[in-house]
Amino acid sequence: MTSSDPHHVSHIAIIMDGNGRWAKERGLPRAEGHRAGAESIREVTEACIELGVKYLTLYAFSSENWNRPQSEVDALMKLLDRFLDDKASELDKQKIRLQAIGDLDKLPAATRKRLDRIQEQTKNHQTMTLVLALSYGAREEITAAVRSIAKAAIAGEISPEEIDTKLIAQHLYTKDIPDPDLLIRTSGEMRVSNFLLWQISYSEIVIVKKMWPDFRQGDLFAAVEEYNKRHRRFGAL
Ligand code: IPE
Ligand code: IPE
Ligand code: MG
Repeated sequence: MTSSDPHHVSHIAIIMDGNGRWAKERGLPRAEGHRAGAESIREVTEACIELGVKYLTLYAFSSENWNRPQSEVDALMKLLDRFLDDKASELDKQKIRLQAIGDLDKLPAATRKRLDRIQEQTKNHQTMTLVLALSYGAREEITAAVRSIAKAAIAGEISPEEIDTKLIAQHLYTKDIPDPDLLIRTSGEMRVSNFLLWQISYSEIVIVKKMWPDFRQGDLFAAVEEYNKRHRRFGAL
């Protein structure tokens, strides 16, 4: 099913949730759920290319996820390293640009290095931008933006009157990325969990019951169909 109008949705953001429960249901360690989730990433990336989606943002690790047991954090970082090693040449071949957003300085140095290298290698690719939210928290992002705007004001580079929504957006990690049209969360949870609070102001939200490792191309197409039925008003009539 590829009949969804490709012109409507240019940015899809996904809260990839439910890896741990998926594993638990199968009597497997949580890390197995995270591993299985990597296949879903491959599926949705393919589906997005097919639909002509220009930006796919994946919430892979939140600021709060650092508070999980060290063993799980280590497992997630290891999987991330493996994901980046496995994907590097594929992204390059498919002309996908990789961009990471979040407090990346908190990531292990070796992971950071991989990210820097792939971002540099793919920076001119135009098929699609795959945005990985890593060590990402929207409140932290907004806080960092406020801090840098305050510095610019104290330095006399801007006056407080010049601070508007556009200027704030320019100080976010997502400054070069349009706002998501569609936000999907898997595992049935109805919350945002500190993801893109500023950017999703007018995004359509689709909650999917399936756990992330069970999410397939058809589920993405179904979410886009649902999106196409919505009537976006942006506060106007
Ligand atoms: C999402 O799955 C992946 C990350 C948050 C890193 P979870 O690990 O949150 O899985 P559940 O929600 O406990 O099932
Ligand atoms: C949100 O999922 C973060 C990611 C998917 C990376 P969580 O599982 O961490 O969020 P809560 O704890 O259910 O709010
Ligand atoms: Mg979760």
